[in-house]
Amino acid sequence: MFQARWHEDRLLFASRPALFALLRAGRLLGPIRHVPKLGWVVTDPSLARKILNDGAHFTLLGEGGVGHLWAQVLGDYVYRIFDGPGHADLRSRARDLFTDASAQQLVERVFAPALRPARDRLRAGRAIDLADLARVLVGRMMIELLGLDEADDARRVFATGERLAKLALGSATSTTLPRAVIDQARPLIAGLTRNVPRAYAEADPATLLGRCRELGLSEEETTGLAALLMVAGTETAATAMTRIVALLHDTGDQHRLLADPGLLGGAVREGLRVTTPAPVIGRHVSHAVTVGGSSLHKGQRVLLLTHTANNAVGPFDIGRPYAPETRQLWFGAGRHLCLGAALARAEIGHLLHALFEPGRPVVVGPRRPARNVLIPGYESLPVRLA
Ligand code: HEM
Repeated sequence: MFQARWHEDRLLFASRPALFALLRAGRLLGPIRHVPKLGWVVTDPSLARKILNDGAHFTLLGEGGVGHLWAQVLGDYVYRIFDGPGHADLRSRARDLFTDASAQQLVERVFAPALRPARDRLRAGRAIDLADLARVLVGRMMIELLGLDEADDARRVFATGERLAKLALGSATSTTLPRAVIDQARPLIAGLTRNVPRAYAEADPATLLGRCRELGLSEEETTGLAALLMVAGTETAATAMTRIVALLHDTGDQHRLLADPGLLGGAVREGLRVTTPAPVIGRHVSHAVTVGGSSLHKGQRVLLLTHTANNAVGPFDIGRPYAPETRQLWFGAGRHLCLGAALARAEIGHLLHALFEPGRPVVVGPRRPARNVLIPGYESLPVRLA
């Protein structure tokens, strides 16, 4: 157990030292505390959920919220569709974009060409770099979702998503982006969403973009959603896959999973709780309100330390029952609850299912954390089967 905690801490520290310090300090701050320069820092899961569910007093479209950041890059239409009535309408139409069943089918089809050779290699007793494989799998998913060309290289697509996400580094103190950052982001988004208009017009209703059209989303909304999927669903999913395999190895819980494949769901849930790939969620106070006895004023910022809140439940344990206090706070809560949650769970579950074969535990070689990235993760995680 100690080994698992040590590797997770080392990873967070190496990837984002300031974030590591904030998450650690969060443990000592109490449920809600005002911190100069950062704003209100919340570590209590019930207060975090209360804020995420309170659209009357909090928004993600003002300073401190991710919508504020993306509006500067994507355009003013973000203000219409990323919160408020426009967002409620978009979410109600996009409700069944990913169901558990459709996500599972999608993952099986999209992952197969890259997963099969990796499995063959493992079965032959050779090592693979799981961090690289996760980037390829998620990159393939983005090519599929964004209607990019078959010939696009999955690693390059992933790296572009990573570069885009990295532009948000530094937003812990302000979500106002410098002009130079906006100028770097726009061509990246334009490249990634270049096929959206054509796919929106022509794609089969079975594809995500075709389905957006059938659901009555406008071309602009579909392009915005596509860009958001890219930013929200690349590094988060890849880091979860890699770190959950490392946790299963480091805690020894892989032996429980190998003995009882029925524990797979618990492994995915516990892995998401302990890694919390989106470790902090930001909000802007749109109207004064009292939370947990503290008076929050209009215009202030709020940082919800979901990583700290989720980890207070205890160490990684794939047999741990559902924890009602955190529920699935790793996917947020309320009206912005992760739209790709079913897809993310299917991606992680499918990889674990492919990797963990009875009688052949996974052996992890010397690993290397990624540095200077938005979402902490492994640059390299060599694995082989015993
Ligand atoms: C393990 C992987 C993932 C984690 C931990 C995660 C986490 C989150 C969290 C915490 C939020 C809420 C943000 C907020 O309230 O400000 C969110 C929103 C969102 N996520 Fe995910 N996410 C993951 C994977 C994905 C995937 C694979 C996709 C799609 C391809 C996706 C698409 C979205 C979208 C579109 C939103 C915005 C929803 C809205 O504002 O209505 N996510 N995600």
